[in-house]
Amino acid sequence: MKYHIGVIKGDGIGSEIVSQAMKVLDQIAVKYGHVFQYTQLLMGGCSIDVNGVPLTDETIQACKNSDAVLMGSIGGNTTTSPWYQLPPDRRPEAGLLKLRKSLGLFANLRPCVLYPELRGACTLREDISSQGFDMLIMRELTGGLYFGERRTEEVNGVMTAVDTLSYNENEIRRIAVKAFEVAMKRRKKVTSVDKANVLDSSRLWRKVVNEVAQNYPEVTLEHALVDSTAMQIVKNPAQFDVMVTENMFGDILSDEAAMVTGSLGMLPSASLNETKFGLYEPSGGSAPDIAGKDIANPIAAILSASMLLRYSLDLQTEADAIENAVKKVLQDGFRTGDIMSDGCKQVKCSEMGTLITERI
Ligand code: IPM
Ligand code: MN
Repeated sequence: MKYHIGVIKGDGIGSEIVSQAMKVLDQIAVKYGHVFQYTQLLMGGCSIDVNGVPLTDETIQACKNSDAVLMGSIGGNTTTSPWYQLPPDRRPEAGLLKLRKSLGLFANLRPCVLYPELRGACTLREDISSQGFDMLIMRELTGGLYFGERRTEEVNGVMTAVDTLSYNENEIRRIAVKAFEVAMKRRKKVTSVDKANVLDSSRLWRKVVNEVAQNYPEVTLEHALVDSTAMQIVKNPAQFDVMVTENMFGDILSDEAAMVTGSLGMLPSASLNETKFGLYEPSGGSAPDIAGKDIANPIAAILSASMLLRYSLDLQTEADAIENAVKKVLQDGFRTGDIMSDGCKQVKCSEMGTLITERI
């Protein structure tokens, strides 16, 4: 079959890691008889440099015309890059938020898995890491504080800034349904994370999640407060299966959960809308400090390509082939610098891409 894939390499390490993911996809195309037609698109700082804005209407339209979008990372050094002299709505991140909203990508899936081979890279004590963990954070992506009304103004001579955290029941219901659907295909446990002891938006969140749970009697639902969850992620991550939470909490908890797997460079993500369309990107950032050195870990981008095949193109065998090739390369002892440990062979970003491609 022929598929159209939008490609946003973005800034920093984005271009290096996405090139490796495309190398792997090209091998999938050869082996399984598909055609992947790529359309390269600009978004983030590179779009500011060329177009003066982080996201153009043309890029949004080209994404809509694709079956799925593969993305690298956007943004630069927030203290030194000239992009951060621009007003907030013209900076690289504003492009990503606008793209998420324009494409209706309300469900952000961030799997956090501790691979047995990488237990040594885990930042937790060995009695905890030896149990392993495999959780999936389902982050709401188009509501909450990120998209609420905001302003900075002088009130009675005092500078005052306001951000608004708002959710309606429909926004909560659709992300809850996604979480329960995914849990049915996993270990059938959902942890809904909120701050219901303080926030109205969290109390509504809890009520709606409880209603949705009625339709999934096989799934065990538990509610947890976000502060306590932050603690449990480092204390006993094995307890979690699917975690569903609002945008800001999900942003914070997913970085924490990602780090305890050993490296942000290992973790892919999928952002989905109501249809099969999705945007696939590593959970980590653009890492401007190591950009252009061919030392970044491309595995998150490569696993993002696997999620693209699985969720948007329905190519399960091909997605499994990528995941297995990644496991194999780790078993064979190859590591990029971020996950390097004694007795392993350190390789560059492009070599890692080739080694994974050879194992497809
Ligand atoms: C993420 C990033 C973004 C977010 C930034 C770049 C706007 O941190 O995808 O987690 O906060 O959502
Ligand atoms: Mn983040």
